[in-house]
Amino acid sequence: MAKDVDMKKLILDLDTGVDDALAISYVLGSPEIELIGITGTYGNVLLDQGVRNSLAITDLLGHPEIKVYKGLPHAGATDSFTVGKASAFIHGNNGIGEVDIPDSKREPESEPAVDFIIDAANTYGKDLIYVPTGPMTNIAAALRKAPEIANQLGGIVFMGGALTVQGNVNAWTEANISQDPEAADYLFRSGASTTMIGLDVTLQTLLTYEETQRWRDLGTAAGTFLADMTDYYIKAYETTAPHLGGCGLHDPLAAAVAVDPTLVTTLPINMQVDVEGPTRGRTIGDNERLNDPVKTTKVAVGVDVKRFLNEFMTRITALAQAAN
Ligand code: BDR
Ligand code: CA
Repeated sequence: MAKDVDMKKLILDLDTGVDDALAISYVLGSPEIELIGITGTYGNVLLDQGVRNSLAITDLLGHPEIKVYKGLPHAGATDSFTVGKASAFIHGNNGIGEVDIPDSKREPESEPAVDFIIDAANTYGKDLIYVPTGPMTNIAAALRKAPEIANQLGGIVFMGGALTVQGNVNAWTEANISQDPEAADYLFRSGASTTMIGLDVTLQTLLTYEETQRWRDLGTAAGTFLADMTDYYIKAYETTAPHLGGCGLHDPLAAAVAVDPTLVTTLPINMQVDVEGPTRGRTIGDNERLNDPVKTTKVAVGVDVKRFLNEFMTRITALAQAAN
């Protein structure tokens, strides 16, 4: 589709596992916003596997024009990263539910992700929304290198954290924050306008086999891929969180809020991440900035589940039908 020059731009920063792939699908199915690039991070999978997945998925979904940039391979404070057992169980060893899709013939761009983020902020300013759905390592590095982008960007809508509910790694830590607590804390304190889409809301938006069957019924390669991949993820949730009755649509909810912020209700509050002590990785209000009249973070505490699920199915189903 021809894109309008005035259209809002979006960058997805992904550790491309199952729900990250659904976030790509949601954005590609959203005609009101232009995906200008995907930056790769680590988490559900290693950096290179995530980049491979993003290239292959955008091809399969009929969007080989989407450029993919390689980000940093691990948290700044460490020198290596290993995929956790829980991540491999939930997303499969290849990140996309052990589903085999063709490798892309394309390569990632030569420009590093951190430089691409800075250039895009300079080019598009307030028209650009950045959506990280893995650890915040790339955006923290970009903010360290070019602090002025904090005020240039239109906003950062990220999936991560938990304010009113427990974490999913341990009682206080959510997975994306746990991978690089320092980076998330840096982001909260950077002055950038952030919207936190945490477990508070993403564990209210659930998908079941009933919906994935609709994708399978399309009979397209894209529909079959989305159904097979997501069924693997739903099956994992039957073991890890049987009380939910479906899988959490974490990353697509962040993408959806970037497209339409009215899907959630938010609490304005200046946040921090505990980086030391037994609660390392906890996302919590910053006592020292409690009375600051300027609140840089909005934490989503409510979500219009019905409207989101309807948008999710409508947009992704249409994309999977059109793809092939
Ligand atoms: C987050 O962690 C990852 O496993 C998912 O892709 C999502 O971004 C949920 O805690
Ligand atoms: Ca993710």
